[in-house]
Amino acid sequence: MKTHSCRPGLKDSQVLEFCKQGFMVFEGVVPDEINRRAVDYLSGFPSHEPTEILEEDWFVENVILNEQAAGAVRSLLGQNFGLPILMSNHRVQCPSPAQNWHRDGNSKHGPALDYLQVFYYPEDCPIELGPTELLPGSHFLFSLSKQMGHYGGIRGAYRAAAPAGTIFLTVYSIWHRRSTAAGTGLRNLLKYNYWRTESPHRDWIREPDFDIASANYKLPDPTFREQFRDCHDAAEMFFWLLGKSDSFAVSGGQGWPLNQHVGKYMSNPYGVPE
Ligand SMILES: [Fe+2]
Repeated sequence: MKTHSCRPGLKDSQVLEFCKQGFMVFEGVVPDEINRRAVDYLSGFPSHEPTEILEEDWFVENVILNEQAAGAVRSLLGQNFGLPILMSNHRVQCPSPAQNWHRDGNSKHGPALDYLQVFYYPEDCPIELGPTELLPGSHFLFSLSKQMGHYGGIRGAYRAAAPAGTIFLTVYSIWHRRSTAAGTGLRNLLKYNYWRTESPHRDWIREPDFDIASANYKLPDPTFREQFRDCHDAAEMFFWLLGKSDSFAVSGGQGWPLNQHVGKYMSNPYGVPE
């Protein structure tokens, strides 16, 4: 197994934001020259699994170990994280109808974050070329792919239209699909995974004014779930990443992690875990 060590790139509030949303986008972080080289390489690969690209030093250095993306992976999966073993290319000839909503096979649901599903656009992917559509917070929302496929547009979904060189990290179980592509042309989208090899602890960038008790665990509406369940799930995943799962507990009612009134009517919420 190939692993990588580097400096963490995310701060406390960004790690929590990832727990809430289930994805994080780094726009245009890969240099244009590498994007062009990747497109050239892929044009000679009609296969949907161009895994050989993982043997190319220029690709590994600039995409797989891209400073911003790898810094985020390092923050979420810890040091010595495992590198991708398989490369998929979600190539589509546009125009093309939207894909069905789905979560990828072999998904698990829960607070653990032991691997990441990552996407890279080697070319610009405007709305017309059917960017990946992601449902914020849905990594905690269990449903079978066969039962979510019939949904059409969902209010609150995020379409990852972005320039060439964009990398986005997702929790594996997030609901997603290729959106409708009304334009013309070929769209390439690479997908790969990273793995955790070390147990979780708070080894990302500390933010001096970040406070676990008063942090904002709320995902903007709509959350597609029971009221405030988003706060509970995001807090539980954050505690898992802290290596503090054993101390995670919620009292329910208006207590932590429902922190809307902290700072307005109270200085500290009720029910913060020890
Ligand atoms: Fe998928």
